[in-house]
Amino acid sequence: MLSLIKLYEADSRPDKIDLGVGVYRDDAGRTPVMAAVKVAETRLIELQDSKSYLGPEGDTGFVDAMASLALGNAVAGSGYAGLQTPGGTGALRLLLELWQRANPDGSVWLGTPSWPVHEAMIRRVGARLQTYVHYDITAQRACPDNLLAAIRSAAPGDLFLLHGCCHNPSGADTDATLWQSIGEALSNVGAIPLVDLAYQGLGDGLDEDAAGLRTLLDHVPEILLAYSCDKNFGLYRDRVGAAYVLSGNDTHLGIAKGHLAEIARSCWSMPPDHGGAVVRVIMADRALTASWRSELTQMTKRIQSIRNRLADFGDVGKFAFGRLRHEKGMFALLPATPDEVAQLRSNHGIFMVGSGRINLAGLQEADCDRLVQAIGRLPSFAHKRTS
Ligand code: LMR
Repeated sequence: MLSLIKLYEADSRPDKIDLGVGVYRDDAGRTPVMAAVKVAETRLIELQDSKSYLGPEGDTGFVDAMASLALGNAVAGSGYAGLQTPGGTGALRLLLELWQRANPDGSVWLGTPSWPVHEAMIRRVGARLQTYVHYDITAQRACPDNLLAAIRSAAPGDLFLLHGCCHNPSGADTDATLWQSIGEALSNVGAIPLVDLAYQGLGDGLDEDAAGLRTLLDHVPEILLAYSCDKNFGLYRDRVGAAYVLSGNDTHLGIAKGHLAEIARSCWSMPPDHGGAVVRVIMADRALTASWRSELTQMTKRIQSIRNRLADFGDVGKFAFGRLRHEKGMFALLPATPDEVAQLRSNHGIFMVGSGRINLAGLQEADCDRLVQAIGRLPSFAHKRTS
């Protein structure tokens, strides 16, 4: 990913297309600072009277605000222990380490393909990794039965890392019925979900994108939640996230909070403050919240419009663009070989990660035709789909 950014920057073609790293761009190709963020930052600069430490839990106003956003009305019935973290990545790391302390012999289950850092991080904390196929790239469809079978074969205490919404890289999300079945299966086995909620609001809407998490709350006694504000607040480089343990058991929450704070202390001591404070200011002010929501809705509409525009191409060779209309979020996965990904880059100036993932939120309306034409010429896409 990082070398791809450098390759893109070094390319001098004026019509190059960057579909690599997952950042939102508007139709002019910019990643703007959201208007509410700008106002909150100005306010912070004027009013902040100290830069003293806040402690390993970070900004508790921010942590509570994100719990409300993720859980909605369910926040009233759910206890939680939460900490601010450096991005959603920091939250995942903290929660994996916490789980590993409690279940040193357990397995972490991951649907493939997934965000590559998931697997790297599971291995880094020394946990046993077990995988199942979430999305069949050749057949271009999700495989929900695989997840249910994996849960049924898991041991009590095993961890299931689930994408809350806007699956990265496939865009193939879990529907309401499947979330129910997942909750029931996890509860039957006594396995624990770790929900990675990194794109809330960029799929169907803020509440809709958290519906799976909220459904799980009805079924399982304990959930780990990694939250990221990088995308939905556009705060990427400020690294804004939060880690939560959700449970109705206050004793468990007290113990979990102590462990989370201790692990955080040995990883980064205390989280960066600025981005979390910005989010807290926005969420505490009705007008700023409304402005943020409305800008987020515009971003989501643009992504949906790009999805629909590509979907209108129907089948291009062996690739069914039509499915993009029903999938969610910033990403889609092309069944392209690494060689073909390299050809797109060298012959057409189209940059994407080697897995064939494209960041639809980086695509401009005017470039859709060129992208589809270029893809249609690749050998893997040369024949009409037969299935
Ligand atoms: C992505 O998947 O492109 C983003 O989450 C950025 C990253 O760190 O990989």
